[in-house]
Amino acid sequence: MTSVTKLYDEDEIARRVEALAGDIAGAVSGEFAIVALLKGSFVFVADLLRALARRGLAPTVEFMRVSSYGRAKESSGTVQPIGEMPTEIAGRRVLLVDDIVDTGRSLAYARDQLLEAGASKIWTCTLLDKPSRRELAISVDFVGFVIEDVFVVGYGIDYAEQYRHLPYIGVVD
Ligand code: IMP
Ligand code: MG
Repeated sequence: MTSVTKLYDEDEIARRVEALAGDIAGAVSGEFAIVALLKGSFVFVADLLRALARRGLAPTVEFMRVSSYGRAKESSGTVQPIGEMPTEIAGRRVLLVDDIVDTGRSLAYARDQLLEAGASKIWTCTLLDKPSRRELAISVDFVGFVIEDVFVVGYGIDYAEQYRHLPYIGVVD
């Protein structure tokens, strides 16, 4: 039986998201688009969007889905697009948002796709960063929490489609 040990509770996450929105508002002004990577970032981006609104920012929101994990805990090594690319990207400034940067492949792939689609500038943002797992050098502009090489779930993040509903972030033992 899998058990989940709490890593960041709801209050800690909320405070960190507010601070992150402050950092983003300090660096990004004016018109821009958020592109959020599905599915894992959906809870994070919903909170981040409203925290940005409290700072007067009104980004548009697009979603993009890529897959590298399948149902396993280990990355398959190749990133594939699932479904359509976001539209309305040409000439826009983009804040690319993901839940976790692990090997860095997903974020790098999404960034390259958006550049190809004509984005004029891309900032990257992740709720969780596992720098020790990185296989591809990619700079992340806004990071919520830096974590060890552990498998986390909750706050939108899954293990085999389970645990997304948890309001906190926990480690799967
Ligand atoms: P990367 O392409 O190796 O950087 O993998 C990033 C993606 O893998 C994230 O967007 C997550 O969807 C998934 N992932 C990485 N680590 C975890 C984890 O600890 N729990 C759940 N999903 C994870
Ligand atoms: Mg993901």
